[in-house]
Amino acid sequence: MKRTRAGTLTTDQVGEQAKVQGWVHRRRDHGGVIFLDIRDRSGVVQAVVHPESTPEVAEALHPARLEYVVEVEGSVVRRDPDKVNPKMATGEIEVQVREGRIVARSAPMPFAMEGAQDASEETRLKYRFLDLRREGLQRNLRLRSDFTIESLAYFREQGFVNVETPMLTRSTPEGARDYLVPSRLNHGSFYALPQSPQLFKQILMVSGLERYVQFARCFRDEDLRADRQPEFTQIDVEMSFVDEEDVYSLVEGLFSRVFPLAGITPPASYPRLSYDDAMSRYGSDRPDLRVDLEIADVTDCLRETEFRAFQAAIGAGGVVRGVHIPGAAGSSRRQVDEYADIARRHGAQGVLWVKRENGVPSFLVRNALTPAQVETLADRLGVEEGGMGLLVAGPAPTAAAALGALREEVGRRFGHMREDAHEFLWVHDFPLVDWNGDEGRWNATHHPFTSPRMSDLDRLESDPGSVRSRAYDVVLNGNEIGGGSIRIHQRELQKRVLALLGIDAEEAERRFGFLFEALSYGAPPHGGIALGVDRIVMLMAGAGSLRDVIAFPKTASALCLMTEAPSTVDQEQLLDLGLRLRPRPAGG
Ligand code: AMO
Repeated sequence: MKRTRAGTLTTDQVGEQAKVQGWVHRRRDHGGVIFLDIRDRSGVVQAVVHPESTPEVAEALHPARLEYVVEVEGSVVRRDPDKVNPKMATGEIEVQVREGRIVARSAPMPFAMEGAQDASEETRLKYRFLDLRREGLQRNLRLRSDFTIESLAYFREQGFVNVETPMLTRSTPEGARDYLVPSRLNHGSFYALPQSPQLFKQILMVSGLERYVQFARCFRDEDLRADRQPEFTQIDVEMSFVDEEDVYSLVEGLFSRVFPLAGITPPASYPRLSYDDAMSRYGSDRPDLRVDLEIADVTDCLRETEFRAFQAAIGAGGVVRGVHIPGAAGSSRRQVDEYADIARRHGAQGVLWVKRENGVPSFLVRNALTPAQVETLADRLGVEEGGMGLLVAGPAPTAAAALGALREEVGRRFGHMREDAHEFLWVHDFPLVDWNGDEGRWNATHHPFTSPRMSDLDRLESDPGSVRSRAYDVVLNGNEIGGGSIRIHQRELQKRVLALLGIDAEEAERRFGFLFEALSYGAPPHGGIALGVDRIVMLMAGAGSLRDVIAFPKTASALCLMTEAPSTVDQEQLLDLGLRLRPRPAGG
């Protein structure tokens, strides 16, 4: 008899025979009558075994416990009206078992399938094969699979070529540490696992492919956070003869095609915001636009005040900015202390406020400002009746970061976050480089292969900090879900940018000689993007962590608890590779 999938049985099959194979999801014993809820990938169905009518079958199935694999055959019957379970898709029917057996036993479960969320994450990762049996995780993996297949279909229709680039390669600088692989055949030499396929995809443009795509696995040895994994997947894209808008519309087209898989309909195109505007209006280069509160600069109307905090900030070349939170005027002292903590976590000294109650605006420090100044301040921030404007004084980047966080965190508390919305946007015109104070040199904001804006090129050496790049990010609800740029395709300019980053000519030649070579043989102008698959699927699924959309994820210390990787290796294997381990230095 052919197998029927448990979750597909309905009242349409009443009277028919069915064979169900799957896992024991629940088991109950009522005066000898055995109820087994049997689960397979499609869902769960209840099977009933009566000891009077089928004593051998009852005996065979009696030992079945949770997560045993069983096989039953029997007739599909309608449940008595009082036994109907409206919570179950198959709750109107059950299978009256005629034949049945245990196919595989299960050791006692480390956690119950139902309520598995309550087991510790560590236990669930160790027993990942069991955790993956959960409906939620299976749904996420299926969504991820649909997303991948649908995306590739889209790129194929758009004329892209799927190319696999090497995993054993040279360091590809994306700002993280490399994972290294020692070479057995060339002692003392190491491959690096790719941080991204960046240089390969650019070289494929020199090769004339024009349109490249790959679901690329990337490896970055960096400090992990909830939105980072040491290995992750990108939809990696590169195109020749394009500008920013071509990349934007390609990605918008892709998202319009794949987000509906999760019931989300993105707009046909997204707002474009320059980095400077994003920072001044939202205090972040990846603002969450579900909160529609904006930051305002009030420096100019406070120049004449004598209040010390303002004078100190403005005198030092800084700014005073604020954000109005409607409804927040009644914040308690303790709440205001919390706002100050948020601001301090982002480097600010604290937070000041101006609020309006009973039509009258007031400022945190009485008599620090004249009534007219308080009125102007409240007006400029748009403080309405019952609202509170939170103010931060200090260097512009600090004020931006602190207010960016306050805008989102306090805004959310007062109901200014549209939780169900999906707000996409493009952020562009990032600075080309940022100053690394610790190392006393310029870092590439995106990566060293990003093109500066041609109009800023004359300041590349004289005022690098003011040069804007042709880099862009795509942001969804405050998450950076992709980033890319128009590239440098001229060898000399590439050398100039590397020199600016403190990479001298010799080192540049050693590390990127192959790229310089390639750029000398008719390199077309090109650009592209990489989209973070794990982050996108996480957002599509409404999951709280990347681990919920990766089959075998790693912990925050980059461990795989199931396989216990990384692990020690035999002395012989090390010898083969020409390696010897040194004891870890004390304190290291
Ligand atoms: P970038 O480094 O911005 O660009 O990466 C692109 C996107 O990949 C995702 N991402 C990550 N996801 C999970 N875990 C991580 N550790 C992680 N790091 C990055 C993010 C990010 O937006 N070569 C360039 C692309 C280009 O220029 O075309 C690059 O890799 O969603």
